[in-house]
Amino acid sequence: MENAIDLDFTRNVIDEFNGAPSAIIAMLQEIQEKYRYLPKEIFPVLSRTTGLSEARIYSLATFYENFSLEPKGRNIIKVCDGTACHVRKSLPILERLRAELRLPQGVVTTGDLEFTVEVVACLGACGLSPVLTLNGKAYPAMTPDKASNLLRSVKESEVPRDA
Ligand code: FES
Repeated sequence: MENAIDLDFTRNVIDEFNGAPSAIIAMLQEIQEKYRYLPKEIFPVLSRTTGLSEARIYSLATFYENFSLEPKGRNIIKVCDGTACHVRKSLPILERLRAELRLPQGVVTTGDLEFTVEVVACLGACGLSPVLTLNGKAYPAMTPDKASNLLRSVKESEVPRDA
């Protein structure tokens, strides 16, 4: 886990936007891009320099689904459990991935921060169901075995990380 948060990076991002409160979302996006989540240490810095309250910045960070306050894995797997995927057995795929990654109940990210497995509603590709995405790329007509193979190929670094 990345313990040391480089607050200079956050300050540079703030400078880039001249500390404008109206640019707070863009700042949060850049910071999340670097860390893959929003570390709690950034909130006082953002608050001091933009004049927005920490509570306001937190509420923005929690309102937008793309922001995360928890560290995420280097590889993000999103298993669709929308209606079309659900009826075509998306849950066994999810269960297989979680079992192979030894994720305890209620935990979505592996301890080594290599993988995050999330469940999402319709990915907009129902004709390909059941579908999952790995680092933003869609994998259609999945089965538990195909998901295992995909996991193995990531571990062997055969799949490029593109997100
Ligand atoms: S329900 Fe899974 S892509 Fe639409």
